[in-house]
Amino acid sequence: MCGIVGYIGTQVATEILLAGLEKLEYRGYDSAGIATVWEGDVNCVRAKGKLHNLRTKLEHIEIPAQIGIGHTRWATHGKPEEHNAHPHLDTAMRIAVVQNGIIENYRELREELKQKGHQFRSETDTEVIPHLIAEFLKNLPSPPLPTSPSFFLEAVRQAVKHLEGAFAIAVIAADYPDELIVVRQQAPLVIGFGQGEFFCASDTPAIVAYTRAVLPLENGEIARLTPLGVEIYNFAGDRLKKQPRLLNLHPMMVEKQGFKHFMLKEIYEQPGVVRASLEAYFNNDGNPSPINLSLPKEFYADIDQIQIVACGTSWHAALVGKYLIEQLAGISTQVHYASEYRYAPSPLLPNTLTIGVTQSGETADTLAALAMEKERRQGKEAKYQARLLGITNRPESSLGHLVPHIISTLAGIEIGVAATKTFVAQLMAFYALALDLAARRQTINPDKLADIIHGLRQIPKEIEATLESQEKLTEHLAHEFAETQDFIFLGRGINFPIALEGALKLKEISYIHAEGYPAGEMKHGPIALLDAKVPVVAIAVPGSVYEKVISNAQEAKARDSRLIGVTTVNDGEAAEIFNDLLPVATVDELLSPILTVIPLQLLAYHIAARRGLDVDQPRNLAKSVTVE
Ligand code: AGP
Repeated sequence: MCGIVGYIGTQVATEILLAGLEKLEYRGYDSAGIATVWEGDVNCVRAKGKLHNLRTKLEHIEIPAQIGIGHTRWATHGKPEEHNAHPHLDTAMRIAVVQNGIIENYRELREELKQKGHQFRSETDTEVIPHLIAEFLKNLPSPPLPTSPSFFLEAVRQAVKHLEGAFAIAVIAADYPDELIVVRQQAPLVIGFGQGEFFCASDTPAIVAYTRAVLPLENGEIARLTPLGVEIYNFAGDRLKKQPRLLNLHPMMVEKQGFKHFMLKEIYEQPGVVRASLEAYFNNDGNPSPINLSLPKEFYADIDQIQIVACGTSWHAALVGKYLIEQLAGISTQVHYASEYRYAPSPLLPNTLTIGVTQSGETADTLAALAMEKERRQGKEAKYQARLLGITNRPESSLGHLVPHIISTLAGIEIGVAATKTFVAQLMAFYALALDLAARRQTINPDKLADIIHGLRQIPKEIEATLESQEKLTEHLAHEFAETQDFIFLGRGINFPIALEGALKLKEISYIHAEGYPAGEMKHGPIALLDAKVPVVAIAVPGSVYEKVISNAQEAKARDSRLIGVTTVNDGEAAEIFNDLLPVATVDELLSPILTVIPLQLLAYHIAARRGLDVDQPRNLAKSVTVE
């Protein structure tokens, strides 16, 4: 949440900062701002709302500075107004700070600083930081400490030791025009290494156009960027030796490539995501399992139960994962909202594998739930020790630092705030994990295993066919439903999480109220909502619950709801019941979620686009939710 970017080098900073912020806007877009140092002063320009407002303001301001910081905000403390936009300055307006995260003890600090005469101009938590740095700068001994190469670095280091919370910050100062100081404490920050120029950003897409040599900072690290190079220290002030690594990310991957929105492009990338996952996970000689997740042998020993923590769409993928693990591998599995689990964990059971699912690898609640699980099991006897696995699209993220084992999902970077291809990639990871566990525990017979893997190999073609046949159908339906106020999505069994996901997609990008229910639960209350104004989307594909869903759909029809069926091609029975059909190919019921979600993504997309909404950056949301 919130995106920060910084530059120091020989080029004009403003354009580089704006271009970087554009790539980070998915992290928040309530306001944006940049600060540069030029001719002995800090120049700060900020604007409420999206980045283009800032860009418009800057059109009339020419600042040839070669150092600067920028920020795009997702509001936590203080309304999304210009005076709360970052960068924030100290009283004398000589120090500028951008921050991503939350300073938990800002109230006490603010009071102390006010008493010392500091004047505050915003309601944010961040504003205490420049004031605190100014205070330390004022009081540092002169000449500079022999251990520190710079007063400025030393003041920032002292200041951050007083901050509590999770944060990443970048700081510049009028009196130190050749230094950009950055800090990471539980919020992501990468440094980019160019030729005589250096960058920092919350995420790599912001800098990949300039360099692919990056170094993610670790928690408790502080870096000093100058035109001559980068020095890294820990909070104790010890210099650390670290080398950048080459990023496997091409600038093209973060462009729309002719699609109207990133979300639509990402929906269309899903066949490729499934192919990449098949290639990576199902490319083994079969001994002891035809699946290769690159997990060590000891990982598989003595797993008596599994618990999964996740949020939002990742939570829906986890529900599909639970179904697969329980039905295929016979391991009892619980799925928890990470935000709930961290405050009310299950009783400690032995031999428990805890899985955190998060595409960004930065979701604060998921990280906190995993960290809590690790901590509460520390010091216990061996069978109670924490066994943690992460499933993420960003193995280099905070999650990657927290857990010993990772299954990397292979979606490539996802820009649209609504998760689509990362969801499908998470499903692929769960197919691989569930089948791997089942093969090793011999709870699946080899023919069935071979059939499922064969079925998975057909999925990319089936998604392509679905995309081709559904694009026009969903666009047409979107035209009819653009003004609808409520939707109900129904599914059962392995497709119940898909009903939830269909409803979430519609809610988050079209702002239409939508609920996902297990179809059999409707008659226990929600059926009272139904009438001719409330359409019902039901997932009715062949399998153990097909007839049941059809009956539940009939019940909705009897209440005058218009029925839209995600069915299979040539299903005559469904054609008679549903008013509209969104058919997918017939596949094994276990594989159906990966197809049934496609029309629901398209439907949500086209309804939002039809309503003229900002599909990629829906109101109030952010791509990575790095605050509680
Ligand atoms: C998905 O469309 C949502 N924007 C959101 O629910 C998301 O899935 C959730 O915030 C979890 O994110 P994560 O996978 O990065 O942890």
